[in-house]
Amino acid sequence: MDLVKVCKISELPLGQSKCVQVSGKEIAVFNVKGKFYALDNACIHAGGSLHDGFLDEEKCQVTCGWHAWGYDLATGKCVTHPRQDVFTGSYSVKIQGDEVYIEVK
Ligand code: FES
Repeated sequence: MDLVKVCKISELPLGQSKCVQVSGKEIAVFNVKGKFYALDNACIHAGGSLHDGFLDEEKCQVTCGWHAWGYDLATGKCVTHPRQDVFTGSYSVKIQGDEVYIEVK
């Protein structure tokens, strides 16, 4: 596992998300009530940008703006899919000082 810096905490305000490029891949990073989460940005349905989706801070979920598939930010689980085993990529987020890092393989 490698820790990759994605931004400073100050660059990702509460209730916002940011799309970053890591090793050629787009990753959406979210700040929910001061806790950070990271998912693959491309929705597994048809590639909609989750960074541009609707963030539900109470449920800790994001809903894709294209066809409304929803994802749990902590696990990447697709919460709107009838199957229980559908996940998008999710990443562990670490804070070091005032910087946000994600763990990538
Ligand atoms: S592309 Fe995300 S729900 Fe269809």
